[in-house]
Amino acid sequence: MSTPTIPPILTDKVIATYDQGAPDYDGIMARYWPVDRQPLIDSLNLQPGQTVLEAAVGTGLNLPSYPAGVTVIGADLSEGMIEIARQKPVKANVSFQTANLEQLPFADNQFDAIASGFTLCVVADPVKAMQELIRVSKPGAPIAIVDYCLSRQPHVQKWQEMIADATANYGFPTGVIQWNALMDYDQLIYHSDLPIRVVSDERMESDNPFSCGCQLLLENAK
Ligand SMILES: C[S@@+](CC[C@H](N)C(=O)[O-])C[C@H]1O[C@@H](n2cnc3c(N)ncnc32)[C@H](O)[C@@H]1O
Repeated sequence: MSTPTIPPILTDKVIATYDQGAPDYDGIMARYWPVDRQPLIDSLNLQPGQTVLEAAVGTGLNLPSYPAGVTVIGADLSEGMIEIARQKPVKANVSFQTANLEQLPFADNQFDAIASGFTLCVVADPVKAMQELIRVSKPGAPIAIVDYCLSRQPHVQKWQEMIADATANYGFPTGVIQWNALMDYDQLIYHSDLPIRVVSDERMESDNPFSCGCQLLLENAK
């Protein structure tokens, strides 16, 4: 298969899209990507006193799954998404910060763990974002990811190539969720030079090009 062209994702457009789409976001996720977030957060095996980065917290769909005794910092570019996240019921000690994952305002080795849902398919430069997640988390820290991703099935990839322009430029549904339909996690976690160890890699394959995904547990191996 030829290397597909990946449309650029522009940061100011991401902010505008998610600010505007924030009120509809939870309903859209429940309808099209209904993922139980508890297993993702449980996979971090968090202990009381630990600090976690919610990398692109969005409307906070992961937040209710965090246990009491843990500190969570939810970072995101979109104030509109964060406003909705503030309303989520939580047991953990949660705070928020407007931040770009590609240039995080946090110290090296600040976090014990990182969680991220449906995010690296959205950031302009996923490798740069991962480098930042690795920088701000401690050596050995778990990094749990659930995301949309490029299928491993060539016949589904062809459909994903066909929807890539629309998902990156206009979003699906239009104007609510913008993402790169060609987000290649095999390339990112197995063929980049990132200092990570893959602890688990579970794929959700589908003939529906919108519904392919992965749930990963990585370890910071810097
Ligand atoms: C599809 S939503 C996912 C939200 C949430 N993590 C979830 O699991 O539902 C993508 C989020 O990533 C944020 N985002 C996109 N690019 C970003 C970046 N470079 N830095 C920080 N947040 C970003 C958007 O504002 C949006 O809230």
